[in-house]
Amino acid sequence: MQFSTRAEKITPFYVMEVAKAAQQLAKEVASGPEPMIFLNIGEPDFTAPAQVQAAAQHSIASGQTQYTNALGLEPLREAISAWYLSRFGITVPARRIVITAGASAALQLACLALIDAGDEILMPDPSYPCNRHFVSAAEGVAKLIPTGAAERYQLSAAQVAAHWGDKTRGVLLASPSNPTGTSIEPQELRRIHEVVQAKGGVTIVDEIYLGLSYEEAFGHSALAISDDIISINSFSKYFNMTGWRLGWMVVPDAMVPVIERMAQNLFICASTISQHAALACFTPQSMAIFEERRAQFKARRDYFLPALRELGFGIDVMPDGAFYAWADCTALCKKLGVDNSWDFAYALMDKAHLAITPGRDFGTADTARYVRFSTANSMQQLQEAVRRMRKLFA
Ligand SMILES: Cc1ncc(COP(=O)(O)O)c(C=O)c1O
Repeated sequence: MQFSTRAEKITPFYVMEVAKAAQQLAKEVASGPEPMIFLNIGEPDFTAPAQVQAAAQHSIASGQTQYTNALGLEPLREAISAWYLSRFGITVPARRIVITAGASAALQLACLALIDAGDEILMPDPSYPCNRHFVSAAEGVAKLIPTGAAERYQLSAAQVAAHWGDKTRGVLLASPSNPTGTSIEPQELRRIHEVVQAKGGVTIVDEIYLGLSYEEAFGHSALAISDDIISINSFSKYFNMTGWRLGWMVVPDAMVPVIERMAQNLFICASTISQHAALACFTPQSMAIFEERRAQFKARRDYFLPALRELGFGIDVMPDGAFYAWADCTALCKKLGVDNSWDFAYALMDKAHLAITPGRDFGTADTARYVRFSTANSMQQLQEAVRRMRKLFA
């Protein structure tokens, strides 16, 4: 069979190999003294609150299961609009909010609507691997720009200006970022957007971890800067609903009919059941649960990140959101007799039964030195992971 060049360009997740090996080893060591601890998973260890589950069941039982409008249920769009006002103090009219099948569908729609064949999109290295694949699926070219601690692993306005070329169409940023958990400083984002606008390009900001922000200085939506910024969001992370496949995008008024047309044709609508369920996310009870969980994620970060530093990992910027630690393992590689983060991840898995993610998938610049830890696991598991690493590196 012959497949499209588009399909061939989508490379597999290397980390799935590590994840598969971890699953296999987990079975073997399950009943031993040190069962596998999974610190490689990029999704909350919590599930949807009871009210949300009940709303999904009610939607099924009452037959509210037909297709919805391609833009999504009106009350859900209104609820998200109200959340922007109450949580972030910004006015985002419901008419600009489009409900999608996760952030993934929103990113696909944004890329397909804005990118022509050969157009270049600037993004940071390291960054979430699927984002460059959404660009290449739209026949664009993702141009990864190496970033470091000085820019919080994000693009700077100076970099955007310096790398902008004839074919550049825009920037795709994620703030807070996966794999680093670091956000763009709001003033810098404003400057980036000014550069992009001056060039006639588009600014897309993946804000899927925005709800999970821990520092006042960073927990602001890009939508506070301009109505022209395209913001991507999701029920997967803050709302703990990964498998429900529900997200949204906020687009400029002029883009709504274009996205509506594309969404009608490509997806018809996001899951009706999930949309009804998600309405129950915005009750005071559910919100209290999400905020309590956010506090737990922060407490995990506050425990685990200093512990990693003490163990000898290099973490040059404290993440301000999400649930990741982007850690330089160079100093510790020697202790395990390896010389790169890929082999380090396997060694940690074999010797301490800890599953982590090597940096390779997230870019090419410096990723052989870095691993990603996910703190979406219980405090008890995180403490046990630290205990094992202490013993291993002693
Ligand atoms: C930065 C980023 N964007 C998008 C996604 C996709 O999320 P969703 O489950 O909403 O499709 C993820 C998932 O891990 C992510 O980390």
